[in-house]
Amino acid sequence: MEKTYFPLDRMRAETTPFYYYDVKLLDATIDAVKQSSSFPGFHVHYAVKANSNPEILKRIAASGLGADTVSIGEIKAAIDAGFPAPKIVFAGVGKTDQEIAAALEYEIGCFNAESEPEISAIEAIAKSLGKKAPVALRVNPEIDAHTHHYITTGLAENKFGIAMSMLSKAIELCEKSEWIDFKGLHFHIGSQVTDLTPFKILCERINDLQDKYTDLQISSINVGGGLGIDYDDPDGHPIPDFKEYFKIFHENLKLRPGQQVHFELGRAIVAQCGSLITRVTYVKEGVDKKFIIVDGGMTALIRPALYQAHHKIENLTSTSQEEERYDVVGPICESSDTFGTDELLPLTKRGDLIAMRSAGAYGEVMASCYNCRALPGSLFSR
Ligand code: LLP
Repeated sequence: MEKTYFPLDRMRAETTPFYYYDVKLLDATIDAVKQSSSFPGFHVHYAVKANSNPEILKRIAASGLGADTVSIGEIKAAIDAGFPAPKIVFAGVGKTDQEIAAALEYEIGCFNAESEPEISAIEAIAKSLGKKAPVALRVNPEIDAHTHHYITTGLAENKFGIAMSMLSKAIELCEKSEWIDFKGLHFHIGSQVTDLTPFKILCERINDLQDKYTDLQISSINVGGGLGIDYDDPDGHPIPDFKEYFKIFHENLKLRPGQQVHFELGRAIVAQCGSLITRVTYVKEGVDKKFIIVDGGMTALIRPALYQAHHKIENLTSTSQEEERYDVVGPICESSDTFGTDELLPLTKRGDLIAMRSAGAYGEVMASCYNCRALPGSLFSR
């Protein structure tokens, strides 16, 4: 796979900041997902929350993947982009009555329910609409995914999922309802998981549960998403190791005959194809530091400020052979609005274009208008 090519002439003509998407890399990534997941009964859903730009969604929908959603807005965006409703799953701890009703009207593939009160709400709404609701239960598998504490979700104290000790009661609620079609179990251990061991532990946990509930009809197992990417070296690892990832589930999950396995990958599919492109407004000399102030900050890409994440920073237009250390910061009135400290970059001047790489996931979707700033636009490779 060639490294991302930045069309500088087109970029110079754009209003910054904007997101640049390398659609060839996106297509190659989707191909890799499809090839590596071609085991019997495996289905991949794209987690829309990672990036819901309509162009990106359309490409992923056209490839045949399903969608994983967490709000009625995401369900609508997925349907508009061409994802068939039966391939859409709907998760989230706080689905409102309106969202549940709309999802039932769309006839989506499955609700991933996260609590007993939610099961009761789904049942009541399904009954009132005369539509049986397909429901999987999200189980909290109590696995440490070794990732940032804001994006680890499978620990006992997290708000997500149903504790294993409370699962039997939740299953019973589904089983005895004539308005719920119990589909199976759902899990998600966290995001940006780079060591694959937690996924193997997840398989073992699922096997144990299947052994415990031998009489229960479980047609679907949803293992969630979470596969991480290489933020340090996007050109060295533009496509995550999907082969190893899917192989873990193929080799470790003990499936019953006919059982289907669902995946919900977000970041791994879209992160590397996107970069935030900013323009240098000023190069400012401090007492013993130099600052590059760019025109896009935490309102365009909040991950560094929110999760202390680091995105590789590149000066796309400097031709200087000389290098210097800079702090690269945004224009927002918050000290956390910093993309990098002591970054070694070629000599940088006002007007240069600076890319924050690996920003295709949880970048554009998390942008805000704080400080009355305009939302970043988007530009696609040809
Ligand atoms: N399934 C469920 C139930 C989830 O909660 C998530 C992500 C995914 C799938 C997709 O996970 P992925 O494959 O993208 O890791 N804004 C944070 C990430 C939040 C992830 C939330 N849940 C960030 O920028 O790192």
